[in-house]
Amino acid sequence: MRHERISILGLGAMGRALASAFLEAGREMTVWNRTPAKADDLVARGAREASSVEEAIEAGDLTVACLLDDASVREALAPATRNLDGRTLVNLTSGSVRQARELAGWLEKYGARFLAGGIMAVPPTIGTEGAFILYSGAHDLFDRVAPVLGPIGRPLWVGEDPGFAALYDMAALSGMYGMSAGADHAVALVHAEGGDVETFKREVLQPWMEQMLAITVPGADVSESVPDEYNPAMQATGLETLLSASREAGVPVDLAGHLRTSLWRMRRAVAAG
Ligand SMILES: NC(=O)c1ccc[n+]([C@@H]2O[C@H](COP(=O)([O-])OP(=O)(O)OC[C@H]3O[C@@H](n4cnc5c(N)ncnc54)[C@H](OP(=O)(O)O)[C@@H]3O)[C@@H](O)[C@H]2O)c1
Repeated sequence: MRHERISILGLGAMGRALASAFLEAGREMTVWNRTPAKADDLVARGAREASSVEEAIEAGDLTVACLLDDASVREALAPATRNLDGRTLVNLTSGSVRQARELAGWLEKYGARFLAGGIMAVPPTIGTEGAFILYSGAHDLFDRVAPVLGPIGRPLWVGEDPGFAALYDMAALSGMYGMSAGADHAVALVHAEGGDVETFKREVLQPWMEQMLAITVPGADVSESVPDEYNPAMQATGLETLLSASREAGVPVDLAGHLRTSLWRMRRAVAAG
């Protein structure tokens, strides 16, 4: 099976971007959305609209679900369980590790083959060079479908455990939210003390964060060991200064709760010698 006829369940911002990239790559597309009007422009570009999930699953060699959450995937698939036998389903809906594992078991019961996914892109970057999509599940299935899924973003297999795409997706999101909380805090501080926020963002924050990214990610460590070049006493003092500067400026430090966690880890590292 070449998996070249693709069905998409869900035409929200992300589902539409996925459908659009597949259409552009010349894939034969069937689309389904709970609210039908969202398919009109895709139909005008050559997609076929299915009136039910069952019909969409029957029309595709490969069905890609991109709905709001795990509950909406379960709800959408519930009437179509009899159509799942022998089908391949890729779920690009965000969810937890447990939800992905449970969905895999549930689909297996109905005879479907399954890959869980995590989209490392936003709708405007789907299909562009930087976009990549995490997949977990059977490696042989990934090998077969990866070329077909290529047009939406570089496919990256992260393990046989169906929960791993969600795991890496959520963990990466944590990095992103930590970074944006840090940037929010930085801007609030500059604003509170009368600095020029735009100049600060452009000339200081962005180049600084780019420079630090190269150090922060490889340096992130869950172990107790501290690398030689890392001076936790100096870091802890610097962080204390940042926290008091924030208090003096009236910027709540809970905006960046991770700062206190970092300080706690540094103090512990210092105490451990
Ligand atoms: N947008 C992003 O930047 C981004 C990035 C990475 C991952 N994702 C993930 O991609 C998924 C979709 O995101 P999105 O941006 O497309 O969200 P969205 O624009 O809010 O679209 C949600 C989609 O889910 C459908 N839906 C909701 N509840 C449903 C139900 N009970 N039964 C059937 N369909 C239901 C909606 O249908 P109706 O049109 O009928 O409401 C719509 O098609 C999410 O899991 C999100 O976390 C999004």
